[in-house]
Amino acid sequence: LAGLRAAFDLPTKLIYLNGNSLGPLTKAARARVEEVLRLQWGEGLVSSWNRHQWIELPRSCGEKVAALIGAAPGQVICCDSISINLFKVLAASLQLRPERDLILSTTDNFPTDLYAGQGLNQLLGEGRCRFEVVESTELLDHLDDSVAAIMLSHVDYRSGRLADIGAWTRQAHEIGALAIWDLAHSAGVLPVQLDRWQVDFAVGCGYKYLNGGPGAPAFVYCARRHHGVLNQPLYGWMGHRAAFDFQPVYEPAHGPASFQTGTPPILSMAALDAALGLFEGVDMDAVAAKARALAEFFLQEVEARVALRDLRLESPADADERGAQLAFSHPEAYAICRGMAADSVIFDYRPPRILRLGFSPLFLSFEDVASAASKLDKFLAQQTYREARFRRHQVVP
Ligand SMILES: Cc1ncc(COP(=O)(O)O)c(C=O)c1O
Repeated sequence: LAGLRAAFDLPTKLIYLNGNSLGPLTKAARARVEEVLRLQWGEGLVSSWNRHQWIELPRSCGEKVAALIGAAPGQVICCDSISINLFKVLAASLQLRPERDLILSTTDNFPTDLYAGQGLNQLLGEGRCRFEVVESTELLDHLDDSVAAIMLSHVDYRSGRLADIGAWTRQAHEIGALAIWDLAHSAGVLPVQLDRWQVDFAVGCGYKYLNGGPGAPAFVYCARRHHGVLNQPLYGWMGHRAAFDFQPVYEPAHGPASFQTGTPPILSMAALDAALGLFEGVDMDAVAAKARALAEFFLQEVEARVALRDLRLESPADADERGAQLAFSHPEAYAICRGMAADSVIFDYRPPRILRLGFSPLFLSFEDVASAASKLDKFLAQQTYREARFRRHQVVP
């Protein structure tokens, strides 16, 4: 995979361990967006909806994502954000299980996932939608015949802990519930087999491991068996069966196309489409193996360097139990993150004291990891994080 590094437009000296938050710019996306601006929008204007297949992009990007997440064609569409897509998926799930009212999730799930459940509960009221959040260790005890759907993350955004999608989906199905998965931290870096695992719905980000750019469109997977009966409530013309017939009454398109609501953001969609091209011919097992080897290598460095022993591993120590990231706690995590950025090493900080390192295998090398460990070692040994300039909080940490 080392050759793929050249496909990215990363600043030369930067060591970027944050591709799990925002994937870097690819040369293909840069060229595509320039082309879209100059030729497609600049010259082609409205004709580009047809001539440059803008109207097809949500579907064609969806197919590229489908190939990465074990989905046969016709089940994935790119649109909106995870937050919005989850709202649609949760509402659709309740409609597929009209006799049930409970959506279950876990306390460690990403906040926006929990907010989507809370928002739907607020809209529909307790009689139609209850939303409960339980400890992940207690989820099994809460599975009963009132559960319409479980909504979980494949990889815990903080600790990196990996959930067994196949096993939890089976558990959900055994009690007649649906299984909804958030693949934000696995799509594009781990092998995912949604069809084989019989997942009902899944959502994921375009801007993390897929490198689609800041605020890139997200994706929704909807298993084929639900097509035709599916009904998501955010009706809009792009989800209509025949958008350009301009009919006054909404009739949903078949399958995932009905998850679209308004006009797709073409500049973002074009960047995502170009970035997805990088995965062509790339074996996801090899990608996951390299992510794992990079993380294991970093852990060895942590063991070997005295100053790094103050970092407490908050991810599972067993590589089989985690995704492509490592989380460490340290009382000065925030200042470390800021200070290392000043030395061209980009980590991520999650409150209250977590340093998060993402091992994106398409552009990171083992040399990058060794260099990051060595710089961090020096930074901690010299307690550089005590400098006031690293302690001032920014709006986005
Ligand atoms: C697990 C998870 N889900 C959802 C989101 C947010 O998704 P979006 O910004 O597309 O709504 C994030 C963002 O980091 C995330 O980590």
